[in-house]
Amino acid sequence: MGKEWFSKARFGMFIHWGIYSILARGEWIRLIERIPSREYEALSWKFKAEKYNPEEWVELAEHAGMRYMVLTTRHHDGFSLFDSEVSDFTAPKTGAKRDLVAEFVEACRKRDMRIGFYYSLLDWRYPAYFLGPEKDPEGWREFVEYVHVQVRELCTNYGRVDILWYDGGWPWKAEDWRAAELNAMVRKLQPDILINDRSGLPEDFDTPEQQIIPSKDPKRMWEACMTMNDSWGYSAGDKNWKSTRQLIHALVYCASGGGNLLLNVGPKADGTIPLSSVRRLREIGRWMKVNGESIYGSERSNLRGSAVGPVTVKDGRVYVHVLRWPGREFTVTCIKNRVLSAYILPTKQELTVIQEGERITLKGLPKRPLDPYDTVIVLELDGDLEALPLHRYVP
Ligand code: GLC
Repeated sequence: MGKEWFSKARFGMFIHWGIYSILARGEWIRLIERIPSREYEALSWKFKAEKYNPEEWVELAEHAGMRYMVLTTRHHDGFSLFDSEVSDFTAPKTGAKRDLVAEFVEACRKRDMRIGFYYSLLDWRYPAYFLGPEKDPEGWREFVEYVHVQVRELCTNYGRVDILWYDGGWPWKAEDWRAAELNAMVRKLQPDILINDRSGLPEDFDTPEQQIIPSKDPKRMWEACMTMNDSWGYSAGDKNWKSTRQLIHALVYCASGGGNLLLNVGPKADGTIPLSSVRRLREIGRWMKVNGESIYGSERSNLRGSAVGPVTVKDGRVYVHVLRWPGREFTVTCIKNRVLSAYILPTKQELTVIQEGERITLKGLPKRPLDPYDTVIVLELDGDLEALPLHRYVP
């Protein structure tokens, strides 16, 4: 068990889904368009999740090479996809008439998919959230109590949970949320759980958003979360899709920095994932099937001796991700080890290795890249990588 699985996994699916999906302009719609609560709450009765089939989600994630999934159990709008004793604004008590989190969990478990719960601390339905603990101590206390109860429910009613993915702590501090106490409770209920850094406390891993920034401490785990277009929640008009190429490169850069990529989908209100996302995930899956070993369990390295693309490192191997095809030969540097052999990962085609001083020249490459996105070349070393610094005088 333990937590090591997270760094091995490297790739997960983020799912933003709620009653905001009906309006199809993202998950912030309630606040941005100043929708009165009555009008917004009426949406919950229209939210039927009629085509919700989480087994299909899990299959898609699995096919893409993802090893875990994080679902928005409750976003900032306060609508819970799960059954809760402290809220009537939930899927089971409105249009959908069932616990959507329970179904998600069941589907994940069937296929050994790791389970993550996104949970927003903030809830726009509470005036106290906007006023804060000083201006409204009484209201704040009640509000935070409700948050604690819901987190307890999530950690009690669904069996083993692998990740608790907080969000929305701003602008208040960890003490205001009583985060230390909250997380102690969570760990008691879920001893192996991983908790992200958004309750105001660092906990297990960092969560750079829409950017790939390895944590300063090389030992600390991190996960970049990223959208495929510019929206988390379903946004019908958002056509600014990243290409499959960009998405694969994002994954590679995360793995190369020793981090994960949590790639988002925003299902429609009925529970179906937009075709543009499905297509991309299937393409990524095709690439992962062949090249996954260069991603899963990658170790963080500071190897900077490749001009053709980033490298990932694992078990005495360096994987050069050739994003810019050099033609028949190129040179890698900054490796102290002896290179025993080199080959192209998908075809196992051996390359000629000429190692002279710090220069490792690879010859015999095909004229054109084998893969449209990223052709991976493997260097087998004589042991664990010893990287040399890039900066030095070259006579
Ligand atoms: C931000 C947004 C939120 C989204 C999250 C994902 O915090 O408020 O809508 O869920 O980022 O990282």
